[in-house]
Amino acid sequence: APDISTDAVLGHLRQFQSIAENQGGGNRCTGSGGYTGSVNYVKQKAEAAGYTVSEQPFSGRGGRSANVLAELPGRDPSKVIMAGGHLDSVCAGPGINDNGSGSAAVLAVAEAFAAANPNPPVTVRFGWWGDEEAGLNGSRYYVDNLSGTERGHIQAYLNFDMVASPNAGYFVYNDDDTAIEQTIKDYFAKINVPTEGQSVGGRSDSASFQRAGIKTGGIFTGAEQRKTQAQADKWGGQAGVAYDRCYHQSCDTMSNLDETALGRNSDAISWAVWELAGGGSSEPG
Ligand code: PHE
Ligand code: ZN
Ligand code: ZN
Ligand code: ZN
Repeated sequence: APDISTDAVLGHLRQFQSIAENQGGGNRCTGSGGYTGSVNYVKQKAEAAGYTVSEQPFSGRGGRSANVLAELPGRDPSKVIMAGGHLDSVCAGPGINDNGSGSAAVLAVAEAFAAANPNPPVTVRFGWWGDEEAGLNGSRYYVDNLSGTERGHIQAYLNFDMVASPNAGYFVYNDDDTAIEQTIKDYFAKINVPTEGQSVGGRSDSASFQRAGIKTGGIFTGAEQRKTQAQADKWGGQAGVAYDRCYHQSCDTMSNLDETALGRNSDAISWAVWELAGGGSSEPG
């Protein structure tokens, strides 16, 4: 699988930060210029990487928004592996960890896959969802508007919502497909990073896919809950402190990131999606 440069992911995150400051009055929330700017940025980068990109507008409880989709066509069009995360922030701040981190990591993986020219055995489709924060609205809209045939083609959806929490845990979703879960865990085993299971419990976009009968998995570095002593012993960081002290706050900025976690998780995303897409036995980066 392609190795993902942490600097490439950080470059996208710096752009989200400046979009929030210059176009969004400090945030990237639904209905703001910061959200529109984020959509335009992801579209432009994915198009520059060679993707055909589509924007799917919708209107939900949080207001007018849009999803962004970019696809790498595979040799077998009846099999699709999807990866994504939500592109909106809360209105309190720029949302750099939540969820600039997942959005930027998925974008860097999409760029690396296109550059590697994998001509994958199956189609790889990347999604950036609108209006997660008001209730998983973009992902639900996407899933609800798939035909039965299209829905049946999606073999897996991998979700990345908060992958660089400053006091990071390494959590792998454990509430759905065990084969997907194992694929993600295999990567962390290779790099000797211990993981723990985490149930998403309807709190992120994977739930929209799961409810539609699509197999899901994902990675999470933790939000408002506190790291335990045992976790600090194995992962580093501070016991008794939230994984993300700036969760849903104005301080979720470029200084609210664990760059080690960001780099590891970006490579884990690349590896897991590549494996599930049948990309082969290449060594992890
Ligand atoms: N979806 C939550 C948010 O955006 C974060 C979260 C992700 C919580 C995954 C639990 C599991 O605020
Ligand atoms: Zn790497
Ligand atoms: Zn959030
Ligand atoms: Zn989130």
